[in-house]
Amino acid sequence: MSKKLWGGRFAKKTDPLVEKFTKSIHYDYKLAEYDVIGSITHVQILKNAGYLTYTEAFSIIKELILILQSIRKGLFKLDSKSEDIHSQIQNMLEKKLGDLVLKLHTARSRNDQVIFATKIYCKWAVLSLINKDMKHLINSITKLADENKNIIIPGFTHLQHAQPVYLKDYFGAYESMLRRDVRRLLNISQNIEIFMGAGALAGTPIVSKEYNQKIEKYIREIGIDKSFNIKPTINSLDAVSDRDFVIEIISALSIIAMHLSRLAEDLIIWSTKEFDFIEIDEAFCTGSSLMPQKKNPDVLELVRGYASRLYGNLVSVLTMMKGLPLTYNRDMQLDKEPLFNSFEIVSSELKVLSGLIKTLKFNKNKIKEHLKDESLYATDLVYYLVKKGESFKKAHDIVGKLVKDSLEREGGIQGMSDKDLKRYCAKFVKSEILKLFDPLESVRSKKSIKR
Ligand code: ARG
Repeated sequence: MSKKLWGGRFAKKTDPLVEKFTKSIHYDYKLAEYDVIGSITHVQILKNAGYLTYTEAFSIIKELILILQSIRKGLFKLDSKSEDIHSQIQNMLEKKLGDLVLKLHTARSRNDQVIFATKIYCKWAVLSLINKDMKHLINSITKLADENKNIIIPGFTHLQHAQPVYLKDYFGAYESMLRRDVRRLLNISQNIEIFMGAGALAGTPIVSKEYNQKIEKYIREIGIDKSFNIKPTINSLDAVSDRDFVIEIISALSIIAMHLSRLAEDLIIWSTKEFDFIEIDEAFCTGSSLMPQKKNPDVLELVRGYASRLYGNLVSVLTMMKGLPLTYNRDMQLDKEPLFNSFEIVSSELKVLSGLIKTLKFNKNKIKEHLKDESLYATDLVYYLVKKGESFKKAHDIVGKLVKDSLEREGGIQGMSDKDLKRYCAKFVKSEILKLFDPLESVRSKKSIKR
């Protein structure tokens, strides 16, 4: 058992079961760096407000910077006996500086500390996800689309052949989703307001202006992104009990996971024998312990599967919050695991998908076979009749009947004579319509898309 931040009122020792049950250090250690940043800021605020002398503040900050460096170098040792990371850092300082550090907790509560650290963590995690993993996957997708820009595939609605589309447009759709995801995350992150001075819930004796000036100055000094939205604590009760930003972030991450899951599902389908559009590199597949022929898309299946974890995380925080009376309640400690876990899952999904996409190969001949399906050009036949003056509805009915009958005929529509075709509509000219059964002709005739 390690020293607590709240021992004074208690005569009895905490039951070991309670120690274990209430602990969060095994996951909130991820906040270490941001807790230290918060403490350095707090010390400066205390010094300005006259609670610490210059020398006292200097000694504490010096120790805090050493801890910060050890965290950044990966040398920080976790004390699993501490209740949480905030307690461990306080205890470490106490060991080094003795009673002086007892002043550090002046006008602050872990409630305020936790929210500050979690918000800064979120802002860092969002930027790092966007600048590394999201960017990599977007680049891999763009590159793949570019390298295969002439490939045309059957496009689907209801998983049925619909109309031919460019493969690059298909991947462009996922690129659009991911770019939207980036904007969504940035908006959420920019909306997160950083403040201190809520205390446990009711505010502190230090005037708010002191907080904001120091937070702003310090945050600028350590080079945290300008998008940090530093605000005075307008309502301290809301400040310590707000977890909206956690919910918003997990929700945005869930949307990313949903997009990745759809991409995974498309690739799974395309890799089946029935479709055979793509070849997934062996390095990104697994086998079967029983069936020697198997080469399974397990990576993609897990990407699809993990989306459910994200939704679970989102629902767990929403549900945890819904019945909580103001202000802080210990339940809120349980927001961290879903938050961290959501970032971890999405980050590893983006990484593995980026690798898989880079090595994807297209079976052009198989795709060409699929493109022979005449039904893919039915809409083009309708447009052909419309151009010749037929109403869209009538043309739709004519081609519908033609397609249906052709299914029972050998040779399909293209095998019909000019006379046969004219029985459906006098406007049909066989030599003209034969040109329509061409994927390139079909995609080129769609002019509404900006390419
Ligand atoms: N580890 C706790 C958390 O993350 C610290 C807050 C404890 N605050 C309190 N009032 N008991 O929420």
